[in-house]
Amino acid sequence: MSASGVRRVLVVNGPNLSRLGSREPDVYGNASYDDLVTCCGETASALGLDVDVRQTDDEAELIHWLHEAADSRTPVVINPAAFTHYSYALRDAVAIVRDARVTVIEVHLSNPAAREEFRHTSVIAGVATGTIAGFGIESYRLALQAVAALPTHE
Ligand code: DQA
Repeated sequence: MSASGVRRVLVVNGPNLSRLGSREPDVYGNASYDDLVTCCGETASALGLDVDVRQTDDEAELIHWLHEAADSRTPVVINPAAFTHYSYALRDAVAIVRDARVTVIEVHLSNPAAREEFRHTSVIAGVATGTIAGFGIESYRLALQAVAALPTHE
């Protein structure tokens, strides 16, 4: 909860997602990273959530943010980007959030299952509360709706 009593949610984005809009628009769409931040902000306020949207190219920073979320019991929406497919360290950090009984939703703009073979594996999915993929920026909107709909465990 934030000081105002509004439920907080953390949206974290992994490597290269700051390049949305110009990066492979045929795969990820034309919306920019700023558009994504705006979409999350508008969706969250309509749902009565207080959202904090972040992006990093750094695996360690992402892991520290997850530790913070576990400690503050803040639900997380995470797009692990390429870390999805091989980062056991990130998987272990997501498991820490899960073990704190805090919701953690994996999102993807594209549908990795319909892409190259190496994207078919998610080392994150097995420890996430659930996964939403393939709907572009709408994946984030759906994830925030899920956070708002789920019990807080508080
Ligand atoms: C992605 C899918 C990943 O395979 C890729 O490495 C990304 C973005 C997505 O949102 O579709 O960077 O997570």
